[in-house]
Amino acid sequence: MMYDIHIFVCTNERKNSTRRSCGEQHGLLLIEKLKESFAKYNINVRTRIQRSGCLGICDLGPTIAIYPEGTFYVNVQLEDVDELVRTHFVEKKKLERLLLTKHPKDV
Ligand code: FES
Repeated sequence: MMYDIHIFVCTNERKNSTRRSCGEQHGLLLIEKLKESFAKYNINVRTRIQRSGCLGICDLGPTIAIYPEGTFYVNVQLEDVDELVRTHFVEKKKLERLLLTKHPKDV
């Protein structure tokens, strides 16, 4: 079965490093929270929410990428997830305060 939307949640852990990484913050918990919010808002699209390796925007993380549209959200905290899901997937708007506005390669 094809999915309409893939949400990649960075859960990369970079132990023993001074560089921050999303998995050491709350990457895995974000996946659970996203799934809860999708269920809560009864979003009826074929969506796959899955863990991902580093998305290359570590300093701004925790990072989420939504495909095929190619939208990146950064600094996503657990308490942001409900608003993010409602704004992006119910209201079909971007949640500007967490939106990555540059190309990921330019961060
Ligand atoms: S560790 Fe998450 S974007 Fe690099």
